Amino acid sequence: MFSTGCGLEFLLVLCGLKFSWSCPHHCICYTAPSTVSCQAHNFLSIPDGIPPDSERIFLQNNKIHRLLRGHFNPNTVTLWIYSNNITYIEPSTFHGFTLLEDLDLGDNRHLRSLAEDTFHGLNRLNALHLYRCGLSSLPNNIFKGLRNLQYLYLQDNHLKYLQDDTFMDLHNLSHLFLHGNRLWSLNQNTFRGLRALDRLLLHQNQIEWVDRLAFHDLKRLTTLYLFNNTLVELSGQCLDMLPALEYLRLNDNPWSCDCKALSLWEWLKRFKGSTSSVGCQAPVNMVGKDLKELRKEDFSSCSSTVSESRSQTNNLSGTVNPSMNRGVAVGSGDQTHIVDPSRPGPPKNCTKPRNRASKKKGDNEVHHSKEVMSDKEDSSHDFTEGRKHDHTSPDGTVTQRKHKCPRTTVRPPSGVQQANNKALSSKASLHIQALFVALIVRNIDHILR
Ligand SMILES: *[C@@H]1O[C@H](CO)[C@@H](O)[C@H](O)[C@H]1NC(C)=O
Ligand SMILES: *[C@@H]1O[C@H](CO)[C@@H](O)[C@H](O)[C@H]1NC(C)=O
Ligand SMILES: *[C@@H]1O[C@H](CO)[C@@H](O)[C@H](O)[C@H]1NC(C)=O
Ligand SMILES: *[C@@H]1O[C@H](CO)[C@@H](O)[C@H](O)[C@H]1NC(C)=O
Ligand SMILES: *[C@@H]1O[C@H](CO)[C@@H](O)[C@H](O)[C@H]1NC(C)=O
Repeated sequence: MFSTGCGLEFLLVLCGLKFSWSCPHHCICYTAPSTVSCQAHNFLSIPDGIPPDSERIFLQNNKIHRLLRGHFNPNTVTLWIYSNNITYIEPSTFHGFTLLEDLDLGDNRHLRSLAEDTFHGLNRLNALHLYRCGLSSLPNNIFKGLRNLQYLYLQDNHLKYLQDDTFMDLHNLSHLFLHGNRLWSLNQNTFRGLRALDRLLLHQNQIEWVDRLAFHDLKRLTTLYLFNNTLVELSGQCLDMLPALEYLRLNDNPWSCDCKALSLWEWLKRFKGSTSSVGCQAPVNMVGKDLKELRKEDFSSCSSTVSESRSQTNNLSGTVNPSMNRGVAVGSGDQTHIVDPSRPGPPKNCTKPRNRASKKKGDNEVHHSKEVMSDKEDSSHDFTEGRKHDHTSPDGTVTQRKHKCPRTTVRPPSGVQQANNKALSSKASLHIQALFVALIVRNIDHILR
């Protein structure tokens, strides 16, 4: 039995679409591919009578609150249940769904947690949407075996921490959206295995720590957003691991533009892709300046700091933040041989204790994030044309670029600002202290290897 009295169904008949012989009340069903659409109808649970051969099931914008084994059948290829009120997913709900390619569970704010094996065996899964699901953690191995996954949406949750190797099996992942969470550190193996990753969006988190090797597998990454975090410094070494990088956003971080910014400054000079501004929030004489616009002379005091501190390299007094045991953020002049731990590195020219500046709002790049999010929202009503998965544009600048990029040269900014070297010199003692920290960190690094 198909339901009667629905104008849209009549229209579909006119368009030559056939109905299935059974269809849940208040839903629309048609074939080629066999589809049941029950969206926006205040359903409180999965409606009865979904034809067992349905390949596409659309249940978005209802008030469904539980997903249980048996609700769907293993022929399902596309399943959208975003914008409901799902609070529980029985772990075996999708077991045996070897044909499932697209699973959208996004915008179920009370979901909060998932069982480790919820997605196991989904060998064909291509896109998994878990944005805005109130998730504060991800169980170990939750993405295990998802070798076909290309799009993983985890933005706008409450994730504080990602366990090492969470994404280990995702060799085909192209897009990883993690913006709008509460992440504060990126460790050496956070992103291990993501060899095909093209876009990594990490903006609007609380990231203050990036391991020197955090991006080591991301050889195909073209887009990295780190804006609106709490980064005081970032080593150029981290970014040297990204040979395909084209688009980088670093604005709205409390950058400290003293000697510890030197390796980032050098990297930015070499980089041929597009970058945001890198607004300095410390030291006082640098506030408001853009790191990219500083000149070599602005770091001239750093060298003298080096020679002083090199004579004291055996004095390892000082404390190390235990979370910093991988020593990423310390500056270094070496640009090519970072990965080889056996190679004696160059002397650490300069760094200093972390200096928290208050965050300043309102840089020019914030609109990117809104566009990224609206990418999804704009398309969420379109359920028939597949436009929902037009993943091309987290922001306008990125669309339609090629893998072999004709890199646009970054223009020299107009009105290059001159920095005050005296203030840098006056920080020399601080730098020396920090050098000790850097050396300890480095030694621990070697011991651990
Ligand atoms: C969604 O579920 C939560 C938890 O059961 C409940 O507190 C909330 O009222 C529900 N919201 C709606 C709109 O039904
Ligand atoms: C990755 O995707 C390609 C198609 O884009 C597919 O041929 C390949 O099998 C996938 N890799 C794995 C490990 O499944
Ligand atoms: C940064 O992100 C926070 C949420 O994490 C948001 O409230 C704030 O408006 C953002 N700031 C800017 C400048 O975008
Ligand atoms: C770091 O120190 C070394 C040795 O003193 C020096 O050759 C190099 O130019 C310095 N790097 C920078 C960026 O000042
Ligand atoms: C190490 O440096 C500290 C000050 O930073 C100094 O008090 C101490 O005497 C030095 N120790 C040695 C062995 O040089």
